[in-house]
Amino acid sequence: MNDSQRREEMLREMGISPIWRLRAGPGAAVDEPMPAARTLIAEEPSPQTAPLAPPPAEAGGMDWTALKACVADCTACGLHKGRNKTVFGVGDERANWLFVGEGPGADEDAQGEPFVGQAGKLLDNMLAAIHLKRDTNVYIANIVKCRPPGNRNPQTDEAAACAPYLKRQIELIRPKLIVALGKVAAVNLLGRDASIASLRGSVHDCGGIPLIVTYHPAYLLRTLPDKAKAWEDLCFAVSAMQGLQSAQAAAT
Ligand code: URA
Ligand code: SF4
Repeated sequence: MNDSQRREEMLREMGISPIWRLRAGPGAAVDEPMPAARTLIAEEPSPQTAPLAPPPAEAGGMDWTALKACVADCTACGLHKGRNKTVFGVGDERANWLFVGEGPGADEDAQGEPFVGQAGKLLDNMLAAIHLKRDTNVYIANIVKCRPPGNRNPQTDEAAACAPYLKRQIELIRPKLIVALGKVAAVNLLGRDASIASLRGSVHDCGGIPLIVTYHPAYLLRTLPDKAKAWEDLCFAVSAMQGLQSAQAAAT
């Protein structure tokens, strides 16, 4: 299988290939450039942007080993009561790419790893479509490390209690780009409320790290038409990453 066949297969698995083709016209390549309107606009970090709550003394400055141990024993919010396993995060600890979801579901709570259920399969396919793998140059984490009961959204106080862990993960990884998966991730990382629709297609700032927003894979599983938009977002993320890397190369 050559590269373009492999890519087409990924897109088919993601369920976006036919939709993308339909919009782009027959025979159009899946490598279609991003619409011109979606240029990279780095937003000025706004003063009211408080990306994450300040870390408690314990999380700030921790190394990976200490941080993992701290999360494994954490009882800082009510979510610890219902969890089976904490879900710390997984991947390359020096990745350029950081994908952030909402919180563990049932499968993740049972296995202790993020995005291993149905939504995780779609996320893996989304990563593969842009030639990424969850363990190579990618790190995957969540806003909260313990499963909210019945898969409800994490509450504000729970997300705030857990934020220092993700903040420290970000400090240790130093990713070039963060991709927020869904509204809960976006709102918590940006520190302001806004819709996914309004946040897509721009490069935002998360404490000095560029951040882009796309739909959550679990939402995409329920809402087929938006898969094409997620593909646009992934292409946008790739071009943002390329821009960041060439800007860095030029600066050195
Ligand atoms: N949904 C998420 O937001 N995170 C996971 O780890 C799994 C499903
Ligand atoms: Fe601790 Fe986060 Fe789990 Fe709450 S969700 S108990 S803050 S690890």
